[in-house]
Amino acid sequence: MANKCPVKFENVDFCAPSTHDNPYEMYDYFLEHEPLYFDETNGVWEVFRYDDIVTIERDTETFINAEGVRPNIPPDPGMIYQDGEQHSKQRALVSSGFTPRQMRKMEDRAREIVIELVGSMLQKDEVEIVADLAGALPARLIADMLAIPEEKRAAVMTWINQIIVGGCGPEYVTDEVNDAFENFCMHHEEMYQDRIAAGCKGSDLLSIWMNAEIDGEKLDESQLLFEHVLLNVGGAETTRSAIAGGLHQLSLDQKQYDALYEDPSLIPNAVEEIIRWVCPFVNMYRTATRDYEMYGKVIKEGEQVGLTYPAANRDPRKFKNPHEFNIFRDFSKEARHLSFGLGPHFCLGASLARLEVRLSLEEMTKRVKAIRVPEGKEVEYVSSSFTRGLSKFPAVLEAR
Ligand code: HEM
Repeated sequence: MANKCPVKFENVDFCAPSTHDNPYEMYDYFLEHEPLYFDETNGVWEVFRYDDIVTIERDTETFINAEGVRPNIPPDPGMIYQDGEQHSKQRALVSSGFTPRQMRKMEDRAREIVIELVGSMLQKDEVEIVADLAGALPARLIADMLAIPEEKRAAVMTWINQIIVGGCGPEYVTDEVNDAFENFCMHHEEMYQDRIAAGCKGSDLLSIWMNAEIDGEKLDESQLLFEHVLLNVGGAETTRSAIAGGLHQLSLDQKQYDALYEDPSLIPNAVEEIIRWVCPFVNMYRTATRDYEMYGKVIKEGEQVGLTYPAANRDPRKFKNPHEFNIFRDFSKEARHLSFGLGPHFCLGASLARLEVRLSLEEMTKRVKAIRVPEGKEVEYVSSSFTRGLSKFPAVLEAR
């Protein structure tokens, strides 16, 4: 492959949020020249190429989750930190809230919310797509699934956004992050006690989880707390980024936007391209259970390795013109994106996320002719080494 990267990237701190602001020139460098990189600042490895991430995610004997999936941050009792049989059991218990029947209910509710949100945006001269649609839809859906009282919802989202910041690494676990986590724990305890008082008869996710049982085993109290956190962390900001980032990319390319209006059957493929393109998580980490050699270097037993998903999604070995946003991309001839990970930990909420992005595109293209960032204003991006996406998307909508 031709050397397209004249700049050499050295001494990169992969936990620093700013490292991942406009990162594609850097990712291209590592994809091409240093596909396995040791980050001296944090003492962790990073991989970038698509096939390497697939190999590591599949080799669950050598690369485990139980030592942590964030860099140098210890594990908690949530399912993402379990391996093997323990993980399968715990995931199956949590999945009891994601049955096809639950998903159908969620689709109806998500559609109602999208129709209402797009309708409200059309009443305004100027909108902020992250707050008014992209963030509001997943936040409301998760809050509905968990039956969070109306007056607590905004606070819960604020705590979750703060908790996510702590995922960048130990030095980002500030007092603010710890306070947010403590507030979330108190909120969880209140919800838990309410469910017990009501005899656990509700159809909300927490009640479903409290009742779920496999082979006589139930989720214990600390597992419940951390599954509750994980659902919020995994479900809200990621989907927000996908919806906002997708609409932003489409607003820059009227032809592709119009194509979705003229032929809505293209929307599911566009959803995949959006999720490839935006790639809402920067990485997840694994820990080696033995010395492992790659590219002439050794990842030693006990060392962590970060799977840089957005780099793999732009790996030219897999994707044609990887830096081009193309809703017509033929994934069957290229590769499936890795934004949802792979293997036993493949995102549990992937179908829900796809549904939310699809419904947003359907409603927006049906009712809005064009989306334009007002003159003098700009979109803003999240700066993080854990999550990616737009934090602000001011826009003027032209109704059909
Ligand atoms: C576009 C949106 C989303 C993206 C890009 C995303 C991405 C991911 C990734 C990369 C993982 C780790 C996979 C691995 O380690 O191989 C994951 C796991 C997970 N996600 Fe998502 N996610 C999204 C939306 C959601 C939603 C909506 C929910 C739930 C409401 C959710 C719940 C989870 C859970 C529970 C796990 C842990 C699964 C396990 O350990 O078995 N995610 N997600």
